[in-house]
Parts: sequence; C-alpha cells; structure tokens
Amino acid sequence: MAKATIPYTDYFKETIQRMREDGLLLVTCDASGTPNVMTIGWGAIGSIWGRPAWLVLVRPSRHTYSRLEEVGEFTVNVPPKELAAAAAHCGKVSGRDHDKFQEMSLTAMPARQVRPPVIAECVVHYECRVLHRNDLAPQTLAQAVHDEYYPEDNFHRIYYGEIVASYAEEDAARRLGGPTAFATLR
Ligand SMILES: Cc1cc2nc3c(=O)[nH]c(=O)nc-3n(C[C@H](O)[C@H](O)[C@H](O)COP(=O)(O)O)c2cc1C
Repeated sequence: MAKATIPYTDYFKETIQRMREDGLLLVTCDASGTPNVMTIGWGAIGSIWGRPAWLVLVRPSRHTYSRLEEVGEFTVNVPPKELAAAAAHCGKVSGRDHDKFQEMSLTAMPARQVRPPVIAECVVHYECRVLHRNDLAPQTLAQAVHDEYYPEDNFHRIYYGEIVASYAEEDAARRLGGPTAFATLR
C-alpha cells in the first residue's frame, strides 16, 4: 500500500503508545547499505534548533551503535501489534550474528531521504539524519535512575536525529489501536 507523507506530529500519540508497548523498530545500515534493526523502548519526538527531531538512546554495546557512528542516519518504524514477536526478537538478538530482517520476514523498503531502509510491514515511518550526539553524564544523573538502569555503568549515547521525512499508511490510526487505546498512556 502506498504511504502518504504526514506532518511528523500526526501520529505522536500512537507512536509513543507503541513505543511503550512492544517498542519501535530502529533501522540502521553500514556503509555498504546492509541494514540492521533493533527495538527501542526509549526515545522522544520533539522540536530542536527549529527542526523536527527524534532523540534515541543507544548503548555502546549494540551493533546499532557502530552503524550509527558509521553512517549517521536511521529510520524509526512503528510496528502494528501483529509484529509484537518481531519487536521482541529484534530486542533480544544482535545484528552481529543474526539477520533479523530474514529471521522475522521483515521487508527492507528503500527510504526516501536516508540510506537505512524502512520496514514495509510497519505503519508509520520517520527518516532521520543525526545532527548531534552526546553521552549521558553520570555525575548529573539522578541516583535512582543510575541504580536502576546503569548498575554496570553502560551509559547510553543519545542521538539527536532531524526528521527529514515522515509518512504513514492511510489507516494508520486504526491499525495502531485508535484513540481508545490511550487510556493507559501516562
Ligand atoms: C522493548 C525493548 C526496548 C528496548 N529499548 C532499547 C533502547 O531504547 N536502547 C537500547 O540501547 N537498547 C534497547 N533495547 C535492547 C536492544 O534492542 C537489544 O540489545 C538488541 O538486541 C540490540 O540489537 P543490535 O545489537 O543488533 O543493535 C530494547 C529491547 C527491548 C526488548
């Protein structure tokens, strides 16, 4: 199905809700274009430096991290609930020794503006180009967050990606659950 260009704020609620449920699918690639996908549960959509932006947090241990450092572009893909198993798998195994696209029958569809592809089976897509990155600063991190999420000091790097294209299936709201699904959104 053809996907229509949308303002990047159109599916904000659906995107955040899906991120908090099964996670979103972050796609990167290496310099030769070979794609890799990992699940993300943390991130933010906003506006920085007058540009639409996605902030994603990636630990240096991820294969995705080296791809982001190499290519500096990524796509964020919102999976429908039918892809819950794929999101779980892509959040468990590494692209270092798994072809997750093949294992989960995901289709890499060429993106419009960036090198990493989007995932055809997903419903909403954001294409991003990294504008800035920085590592979490442990000395300014709340102790409770440090203790809960960084007992091994493996701090995330935050990538600030300018959203250079966003598009969605026409029935995206229905496929992602519709307005009644947001009762749990806090
Ligand atoms: C629901 C869920 C959310 C996740 N969110 C993140 C995240 O925001 N940042 C991160 O670095 N890892 C996150 N992970 C872990 C990575 O997805 C996981 O380590 C993955 O296997 C890394 O793949 P890669 O080595 O191919 O990059 C999450 C995993 C799950 C299941």
